[in-house]
Amino acid sequence: MSSAGSDAGLVLFAWRDCLFRVPEGVQPPKAGSLFFCRHLAARPGERVLEIGAGLGLAAVLAARAGASVVATDVVPAAVEAIRTNALLNGVRVDARLGDCWAPVGGERFDLICTNPPQMPTPPGRPRTDAAAAADNGGADGWEILDRVIRGARDHLRPGGRLLFTIFAFLGRRTALGKLEAAGLVPSIVASETQDFPRLGYERIEHIRAVDAEATVPRDRAPASVERFVVRGTLPA
Ligand SMILES: C[S@@+](CC[C@H](N)C(=O)[O-])C[C@H]1O[C@@H](n2cnc3c(N)ncnc32)[C@H](O)[C@@H]1O
Repeated sequence: MSSAGSDAGLVLFAWRDCLFRVPEGVQPPKAGSLFFCRHLAARPGERVLEIGAGLGLAAVLAARAGASVVATDVVPAAVEAIRTNALLNGVRVDARLGDCWAPVGGERFDLICTNPPQMPTPPGRPRTDAAAAADNGGADGWEILDRVIRGARDHLRPGGRLLFTIFAFLGRRTALGKLEAAGLVPSIVASETQDFPRLGYERIEHIRAVDAEATVPRDRAPASVERFVVRGTLPA
């Protein structure tokens, strides 16, 4: 007799001379993950925090760049994956389980980064599984990011940077305004055009309803979406 458990495949992701194991229940890297990693700019000796690290792609790359890295996630399988992938790539990453700032109370960092769940989520979808944790960003997509931005000042060292990705439909000007209101100096680090996310098509009417800066066409299905890496710097 055989069972699926004993016959499970092994999914690997290779990038930049690194190899990552993608376990069941943890999202494989997507275009947004690679875009995020390309603009991390973690420096040797810096203390780096990644919130929502998934399988640890950015965390491992930052550690390989010489940073001292704490990486968190709310999904236990992701935290396990971060540890495995750090080991696989010969670096040390301090992987912690927990929601948003909870795993790092009282700690400060030079760089705090996140490629967070940010897909605007219609009401009445209270799923808490790993796939929902990876994608769902609350009604307007800002649920996790708002908490990250609000807490950043208390966790950044002077001159430290908060770095995150957004889809254009969350609002570029909105992002800059939120950072400014939180006492950080905002800037757009990079932009990239990507395929419109598959989940986005399923939620297109809801996304149009929350798209305050009118980035999604009203009269046709969008083929692509603009993505931004946004930075907020705490004045030194
Ligand atoms: C879009 S995925 C990004 C994963 C990875 N950083 C990447 O770029 O491929 C978002 C990740 O955030 C995690 N997450 C969701 N809510 C969280 C929360 N409140 N605190 C910490 N991590 C969270 C999810 O489990 C998921 O791994």
